[in-house]
Amino acid sequence: MTADRPPTDRPDPPGTAAPAGDGPAAAGGPPVEATPPALAARDIVKRFDGVTALDGVTLEVRAGAVTCLLGDNGAGKSTLIKVISGVHAPTGGRVELDGRPITLASPRDARRRGIATVHQDPALVPLMSVWRNFFLGREPIRGRGPARRLDVAAARTGTRRGLEAFGIHIDDVDRPLATLSGGERQSVAIARAVDTGARVLILDEPTAALGVRPAGKVLDRIARARDTGVGVVLVSHNPVHAAEVGDTFVVLRNGRVAARPTGAATAARLAALMAGTADGGDRSGS
Ligand SMILES: Nc1ncnc2c1ncn2[C@@H]1O[C@H](COP(=O)(O)OP(=O)(O)OP(=O)(O)O)[C@@H](O)[C@H]1O
Ligand SMILES: [Mg+2]
Repeated sequence: MTADRPPTDRPDPPGTAAPAGDGPAAAGGPPVEATPPALAARDIVKRFDGVTALDGVTLEVRAGAVTCLLGDNGAGKSTLIKVISGVHAPTGGRVELDGRPITLASPRDARRRGIATVHQDPALVPLMSVWRNFFLGREPIRGRGPARRLDVAAARTGTRRGLEAFGIHIDDVDRPLATLSGGERQSVAIARAVDTGARVLILDEPTAALGVRPAGKVLDRIARARDTGVGVVLVSHNPVHAAEVGDTFVVLRNGRVAARPTGAATAARLAALMAGTADGGDRSGS
């Protein structure tokens, strides 16, 4: 069974992926494989003093797909997303954007390249209004010279439009962000990241603190972001949420890839793979 999976289901072991756009695959091969991933982390090793947090992990993020990163506490999930969001420099391995190796100098450098990260506690300012938060760091300006000022009307309208695109209806965008629920704040952060033109959106446990209905709404917004062509990385402990929205899955255990389940990944199977009670079958990159 493991030998005969269709090519689109087979994960490439690190370093063996076909070079993008050339070779025989370009002539008649499946186009998905010919296009390099929007973002890839290959053979990533990360050591902190004596601790090896990541030991040769490969993760590919494709445009218009949700890649779920699963694993128990301490598996290395946050360390991996810190590597691809410019927080940590890897000890070994490389990060690629559209198939080209890049060095992410800082989180700001990553954002400039279109990699947006929403942390579990989004870096927003609770006492400021929704629109201030939506345009934080990229405020629309009108006028020139001494007449330069914040274009509040444009910011309000832009916020309403950006949120509506994600089905988020907030009656009054002057409300302090703190008056929104946790799920609404996550949704605003997702809509904001997409509005900034991000191509890759990394979400660290966006549904962890939410009840069933708010989590469902956030998952719906993740699917919308994916449908706009953004490549999404969803970090989650929750196999039900992952199975609902994920297109591909990577299970980490002790800093290595324990499994890359292919085909229909049910929540039960993902849970078993996270717990280590099921055979990953298609291990690679570990
Ligand atoms: N800055 C650091 N210094 C030393 N060790 C670290 C550092 N960051 C992470 N680690 C270690 O690396 C390992 C992986 O941690 P990481 O935070 O990536 O796990 P995680 O999968 O995100 O876990 P959780 O589900 O609890 O968030 C852990 O053993 C952790 O203690
Ligand atoms: Mg973590």
